[in-house]
Amino acid sequence: MSDTAELKFNGNTYQLPVITGSENEQGIQISNLRAESGLITMDPGFKNTGSTQSAITFLDGEKGILRYRGYSIEDLADRSTFLEVAYLLIYGDLPSAEAFAKFRQEITFHTLVHEDIKKILDGFPSNAHPMGVLSSLVCTLTAFYPKSLDPNRSWDEVNLSIIRILAKMPTFAAWSYKNEMGHPVIYPDNKLDYCSNFLRMMFGLPTDNYEVDPVVASALDKLLILHADHEQNCSTSTVRIVGSSQASLYSAISAGINALWGPLHGGANQAVIEMLEQIKADGGDTAKFIAKAKDKNDSFRLMGFGHRVYKNFDPRAKIIKKAADDVLNKLGINDPILEIAKKLEETALNDEYFVERKLYPNVDFYSGIIYRAIGIPTEMFTVMFALGRLPGWIAQWKEMRENREPIGRPRQIYTGPQLREYVDLNKR
Ligand code: CMC
Repeated sequence: MSDTAELKFNGNTYQLPVITGSENEQGIQISNLRAESGLITMDPGFKNTGSTQSAITFLDGEKGILRYRGYSIEDLADRSTFLEVAYLLIYGDLPSAEAFAKFRQEITFHTLVHEDIKKILDGFPSNAHPMGVLSSLVCTLTAFYPKSLDPNRSWDEVNLSIIRILAKMPTFAAWSYKNEMGHPVIYPDNKLDYCSNFLRMMFGLPTDNYEVDPVVASALDKLLILHADHEQNCSTSTVRIVGSSQASLYSAISAGINALWGPLHGGANQAVIEMLEQIKADGGDTAKFIAKAKDKNDSFRLMGFGHRVYKNFDPRAKIIKKAADDVLNKLGINDPILEIAKKLEETALNDEYFVERKLYPNVDFYSGIIYRAIGIPTEMFTVMFALGRLPGWIAQWKEMRENREPIGRPRQIYTGPQLREYVDLNKR
């Protein structure tokens, strides 16, 4: 296989090195192209642009494969736990029993947040969207831990920042919900595992003795594993690009949370439930909504369908669809929107428009149904996604720092006016 590509332009030939990854993915290296030819490459939305070489997540969108550090998502969802997966993503290998016990203990130790952060939380109006609250609280960590501001400090300091954010994120996530409810916050209980602790802080009240349902905790754990990393998506690229300026881990993660918020990315799971509710309220005619999604004059899109990189089934969607059935059965819930979702999927998968464009259900098509079944309100869905994606963001930030990647700074083709003469205000 050739390790060079040739580009011919204006009578000149340019040799471009080809790099090959461990799964034989190939990319043309164009970093020197502008210096040699004056050309840049154009690729709005980075649809076909590699921004880095990464050893974290492998994804084959044509074959529907997703692996973290070489382990299949199916195995991890079935046999691992979210915290083990977090360790795997961040440190590169599955932990030994001893290393895992230490990691879990460290995370447990740092779940509490500074009391003054509660005062900041109190300043938010109760109708504040929890994603805005979450990203703000994460960024406030820079104020409470000023040593974290410099990512070039010792590894121990950097690792402490990593542990702190992993430990405190469930607290922030649950408190962003408490703020919305106007309820007093619940402090972490370090006897509980990661997900159970979060669920207690989210649903418990000072006046009750909230018991976490293990079915719910286990369903949540699986969902978090499925969301833990997804290579260079919008929010992860944001984390890497913010981090590339040597901004702190906390500010990079806070930016990632904001990037995740939009309905075309992490906000899709909220949009899916709203869409399914809309179809239900309209009488449940899925064909009518499929027709709307196909109509170019209608802005309606089938939320939870289609993916930038999966042109085959999203493997996470398969796992979640089965998990949705299991969880609803175990909890004895009969949610009519699950049936609407299944019918919508079946209709779309047999429709030429969706087949031609290789549009399949993505991770968010069924995740909202599980969240709803376990009592998570719609506006918290994207917060749950952020909680799951956190280890991936950290791992990608850490890798970018360790590889000493240069500051991210794309080029452009300018299309504005050429030089114009300035006319003074009183003469215009
Ligand atoms: N419903 C109807 N048509 C669609 C949809 C959809 N959900 N998704 C894509 N298309 C059509 C689109 O109109 C276009 O048609 P044409 O070629 O005739 O112009 C074609 O399929 C290609 O779409 P695109 O927008 O160019 O594809 P993209 O790779 O830029 O966008 C996407 C990917 C995920 C933003 C898009 O499929 C979408 O908006 N889906 C709905 C939102 C959603 O579920 N997002 C969650 C993504 S998974 C979670 C995550 O990783 O964040």
